[in-house]
Amino acid sequence: MKPLIDPFGRAITYLRVSVTDRCDLRCIYCMSERMRFLPRTELLSIEELDRLCTTFIQRGVRRLRFTGGEPLVRKGFLDLLHSVRRHLGEGLDEITVTTNGVQLAEFAAPLFAAGVRRVNVSVDSIDRETFARIARRDRLPQVLQGIEAAVATGLKVKINTVALKHDNAHEIPELVKWAHARGHDITLIETMPLGEIDEDRTDQFLSLTRVREDMQSYWRLTNLPDRTGGPARYVRVEETGGRLGFITPLTHNFCEGCSRVRLTCTGRLYLCLGHETSVDLRTPLRAGGDEDAIQAAIDAAIALRPKGHDFQIERLSKPATERHMSVTGG
Ligand code: GTP
Ligand code: 5AD
Ligand code: SF4
Repeated sequence: MKPLIDPFGRAITYLRVSVTDRCDLRCIYCMSERMRFLPRTELLSIEELDRLCTTFIQRGVRRLRFTGGEPLVRKGFLDLLHSVRRHLGEGLDEITVTTNGVQLAEFAAPLFAAGVRRVNVSVDSIDRETFARIARRDRLPQVLQGIEAAVATGLKVKINTVALKHDNAHEIPELVKWAHARGHDITLIETMPLGEIDEDRTDQFLSLTRVREDMQSYWRLTNLPDRTGGPARYVRVEETGGRLGFITPLTHNFCEGCSRVRLTCTGRLYLCLGHETSVDLRTPLRAGGDEDAIQAAIDAAIALRPKGHDFQIERLSKPATERHMSVTGG
């Protein structure tokens, strides 16, 4: 079947699937305390999600990453994984999950059994009070137990940390040492202006280009050529021996190499994290489910793919999109 190539010649080989917009945390940079979630009737069923993933794999997608909201709160999520794993080695290279870790202690072994080998876990602080302030929920002990369980089952864990000027900037070196001491890669992320939150993002923005410069005054950082299919650029911290990634949409654009599109739990395909451009795949899916109609809708979507996001530091106080990160899962 024809591969998916966008108007700028980029091949689409990576699909991120947000299986729910719901979450059991309320991170301050992500959503408001009183976040309104979609009614359950709007959701694609597990069978429908499976059908769309399968179509994308037939069209050249080699990596699937499941996200949310929090994917582990979606009923039937493990059934979906067990179903898509039939494609592993038959076009599909990898199934990964991005989770907040709250329920990972319970889900680690079932995830491994379902074919997952790598999970990304968000940890913005290892201080219980700071964590509770950022996530607006006191769940650090559960997350740490979840990570331990993941490691014990053989899952490779990557830590994601959103860098926040007031809440965790001072803790970043400690977080890096903590992750590396346990053998985890860690990636730092700049806050992105997606959706309304209760505070002004300009206030919390921390330039990772600056953080990196500061780090070089006390650590030796060696650039690495490693790519995981994501936007992170990696260095080795010689003092800890571990890998540290930087995701810098605001201070260094990486869109030219982007191979990712995003499917939401309602069946909308987003062509770029930073744009509202999207195409509804649920309607052709439900209108008889004719494969040609679904394929045509996907082709029409890819033809609309923008060159990249236009997040700007000066405009951080206003969301670039109405949609929150929890709709597309990053
Ligand atoms: P791997 O590299 O496969 O380990 O995953 P990843 O780092 O792409 O995925 P993860 O779900 O851990 O996401 C980490 C952060 O990267 C999230 O904050 C995402 O929003 C961000 N991210 C992922 N893809 C993109 C992208 O295309 N554009 C932007 N601006 N951010 C992205
Ligand atoms: N900007 C940057 N990262 C965000 N995340 C959620 N919302 C935002 C945002 N507005 C992060 C989470 C998680 C990853 C999927 O995205 O912390 O690590
Ligand atoms: Fe939930 Fe992730 Fe958003 Fe935090 S960042 S509220 S864990 S979806």
